[in-house]
Amino acid sequence: MRSLIDIKELSVAEIEALLDRADDIIANPKKYAEVCRGKKLATLFFEPSTRTRLSFEAAMYELGGNVLGFSEAQSSSAAKGESVADTAKTVSCYADIIAMRHPKEGAPLVAAMNASVPVINAGDGGHNHPTQTLTDLLTIRREKGKLSDFTIGFCGDLKFGRTVHSLIAALSRYTGIKVVLISPDELRVPDYVKKDNLDDCGIPYTETTDLMSVLGELDILYMTRVQKERFFSEEEYLRLKDSYILTPEKLRSAKDDLCIMHPLPRVNEIPVAVDSDPRACYFKQVLNGKFVRMALIMMLLEVEA
Ligand code: NCD
Repeated sequence: MRSLIDIKELSVAEIEALLDRADDIIANPKKYAEVCRGKKLATLFFEPSTRTRLSFEAAMYELGGNVLGFSEAQSSSAAKGESVADTAKTVSCYADIIAMRHPKEGAPLVAAMNASVPVINAGDGGHNHPTQTLTDLLTIRREKGKLSDFTIGFCGDLKFGRTVHSLIAALSRYTGIKVVLISPDELRVPDYVKKDNLDDCGIPYTETTDLMSVLGELDILYMTRVQKERFFSEEEYLRLKDSYILTPEKLRSAKDDLCIMHPLPRVNEIPVAVDSDPRACYFKQVLNGKFVRMALIMMLLEVEA
C-alpha cells in the first residue's frame, strides 16, 4: 500500500504514467465512470480549500466512488484535542483512501504512518503540495508538449508557497530546465528547497527581486499569492502583499507563447484583465487538477480501467 506525501516518492516514469492516464481520462471519460464503484474517499481538510478539496471529490465521483469528510478543523474532533494519528486510524475504518490538508508541516506524513489506507498530502503548511504539482506538470505537458527544455520563473511568495516547493522538486529531475526565482528578499525560496533539488540536480537558477528584468526570457511564469495566513506579523504582510502585480502592460514584454500559471486562489497579483490573454493558463490548471487526481486515486487504490 502506498501513500503520496512528497512528489519525490514518485519516479519520473510513474509521473509520466499518471499524466498519460490523465490524458486518457480526458479523451475517454466513460471508460473510467465505474472503476471505483463501492470505494470511498475521505477528504480531511483542516485548512481552507476550494479547488483541491472539490477536485478530489469530483474526481472520486467521476470514478463512480463516494466521498465523506470534513472541510474545517472546527467541525472535527481535532477541536476536542484529538491527534492526527487517532483521526487517521479512525477514518481508516470508514474510507478506502484519505486526502488530508493540514496547517502543520508533516501532519499528512503522521497520518500515513498511522492509517491503514493510502493517504494523499493535499497541502501541509508551507511545505509541500504534491497533487498541485501533478496538476501543474499535466498543464505544462499539455501546453508545451514536453517537460524539458524551458525556462520557468516562479514569482511571489516563494518562502511559504508550498506549490512552488513541490514543483521545483519535480522539475529538478527533468533535463534542460532553467529556473528564475523572483521574490522580495523576505520571501525567497528556503535554502533546503534549493539545496535538495536545484543544487543536487545541477539545475541552473538565478534569484532576483525584479520581475520585469527577466520576464522576456521566460517560457513559463508561475505566479503565487502572498500567503497571508503564514505570516507572523500583519505589518509585514501588508508591506509585501503588492510586490508583484502582473498587468497586461507588463505582459507586452513577455514571449508570445508564455504560459502564465497560478495555483489559485489569486488575490490581486493577476488582474482579471489578464484572463482573456491567450497565454493565461490558470483556469486550465483548475480543470486538469481533477483529471490528474482521478489518475492518482486509481493508482493508489490499484484499480484498472
Ligand atoms: C494553493 C495551496 O493551497 O497551497 N492552492 C491550491 O491548492 N490550488 C495555493 C495558495 O493557497 O496560494
